[in-house]
Amino acid sequence: MSAPTASPKPTAPFLPFTRPTIDDETIAGVVEVLRSGWITSGPKVKEFEAKLSEFFGGRPVRAFNSGTCTMEIALRIAGIGPGHEVITTPLSWVATSNVILEVGARPVFVDIDPVTRNIDLSRIEAAITPATRAIIPVDLAGQPVDRDRLYAIAKKHNLRVIEDAAQAIGTTWAGKRIGSFGDFVSFSFHPNKNITTIEGGCLVLNNEAEAKLAEQYRLQGVVRSGTDGMEVEVVGGKFNLTDVAARVGLGQLPHLEEFNSQRRELARTYFELFGTPAARALGLRLPPADFTNSNWHMFQVVLPEEKLSIKRAEVMTQLQAAGIGNQVHYPAIHLFSIYRKLGWKPGDFPHAEYAGRNILTLPLFPGMTRADVTRVVETLISILQANLQS
Ligand SMILES: Cc1ncc(COP(=O)(O)O)c(C=O)c1O
Repeated sequence: MSAPTASPKPTAPFLPFTRPTIDDETIAGVVEVLRSGWITSGPKVKEFEAKLSEFFGGRPVRAFNSGTCTMEIALRIAGIGPGHEVITTPLSWVATSNVILEVGARPVFVDIDPVTRNIDLSRIEAAITPATRAIIPVDLAGQPVDRDRLYAIAKKHNLRVIEDAAQAIGTTWAGKRIGSFGDFVSFSFHPNKNITTIEGGCLVLNNEAEAKLAEQYRLQGVVRSGTDGMEVEVVGGKFNLTDVAARVGLGQLPHLEEFNSQRRELARTYFELFGTPAARALGLRLPPADFTNSNWHMFQVVLPEEKLSIKRAEVMTQLQAAGIGNQVHYPAIHLFSIYRKLGWKPGDFPHAEYAGRNILTLPLFPGMTRADVTRVVETLISILQANLQS
């Protein structure tokens, strides 16, 4: 006998799982750049970098056309390549480990802590070998990896750290902004992120020498000098941000704190509504209730696989049918076929695999209301209640 299915009907307009907030002043500013005669990398990129540097406590910052390339460039600056290993998490956007392969090094995955959903720091030391050169931790959903423990391990083993803080702009650790301290710190400004440049990213570096190298890797390795001098010393790529994109970022950055506090309040509402006895009985796993550090980039639940008669895909379809956007961030990386070909297999990282099968991102973005959150929670609870194993 098949389990009964809930068929909630949309009662309100479609609620996406995320949506950028771009104000009219920013749109007018973009139009101005478009009319200015200079639309690719130029004064707006420089201005954006200066504002970012201010935001990150004066550290050198360079802007790029993606978050992905910033991590690849950090690896290159650190001299990491063939024969080297880089420790990272299997629960992230696949960019995190693809960049390790891109530079010719080998990713070494360490399972996640099922509570934080971030790399389990207590397992890192066991994964270090003589070939290990760096750690790439990820602050999934904006929930920070413990920087004190992370940097203690890195220091002890003389490892570089490339923080994949793609999702963590505005997140703090011990009262300090992520990016304002540490080694390399990478951010993404993809439209889903807490602030956007449409596509783009930035890298916080340790000193001007690294920043100069980052500029070379950003644009074909080119260094200009004098009136007509040009030299190429490294194989760079084509990773420069446009002034149009930078102008979007300049319009976003001043709103970050306000966006993040709206996200925080919405997250509080999720906890309140998921805290009822009926909701708790379902065994849904909520994220850590962190209202100090997290920028609440996403609100993700992990479905109780063992209690349900349907799979996540069916839950997603039913939410969608009820007008509620939702997404998966992310399947476990080591189970993608290119990674399986490198030797990983099911069972290698059970916590990441469980999360990879069952994690679900619910709507969360500035501008959402308490009524929106109520609708999401009530709909999800009704879908789960209707599909419990008998
Ligand atoms: C955890 C994580 N790492 C890396 C990236 C890559 O950023 P981008 O899409 O800007 O290249 C993203 C963005 O999607 C991300 O969420």
